[in-house]
Amino acid sequence: MAILKVARLGHPVIRNQAVTLTPEEIRSPEIQTLIDNMIETMYEYDGVGLAAPQIHVSKQIAVIEVNQNPRYPDMPKVPLTILINPRITSRSKKIVEGWEGCLSIPDLRGVVPRNDALVCETFDRTGKLLKLEVEGFFARVIQHEWDHLQGNVYLDRMANLKTLSHLLEFSRFGADVHPHDES
Ligand code: NI
Repeated sequence: MAILKVARLGHPVIRNQAVTLTPEEIRSPEIQTLIDNMIETMYEYDGVGLAAPQIHVSKQIAVIEVNQNPRYPDMPKVPLTILINPRITSRSKKIVEGWEGCLSIPDLRGVVPRNDALVCETFDRTGKLLKLEVEGFFARVIQHEWDHLQGNVYLDRMANLKTLSHLLEFSRFGADVHPHDES
């Protein structure tokens, strides 16, 4: 396993549309190792999600997990989930606001409106098609990672930039308003 270098906003890979994988590619040793390394990289940086473009690989793979995290003790837990070629096939009309951050946009947080619930059809790491029906924080993280695979970042989804905050200021003034994530 290896910890991978994270691409930051401004690197073209962050803005590229990532390519899909075939089931044979998903099961290849190269992709299986890549997924393991993405999980390790997500843990290393205390992220709750990581998309392959963020480690300079323009492929439709993302990993998500929210465990007990000392930096974010109040976040709802999300099991380890691997998204490959994910498609969001339906979204709730209800929109909720929440704080987000991104390992590719260090030291910032902002309030992002997202659909409160969604259905996501995705392959898992064995190449099996899954249908995830999720809501709340899990739905938020899926939307954040799905955006990465299309070349979008959370800044593009903010209604405006007035809540954009550095981490220190966020911890002083922002945390009592909304939940938050970093992915
Ligand atoms: Ni991100």
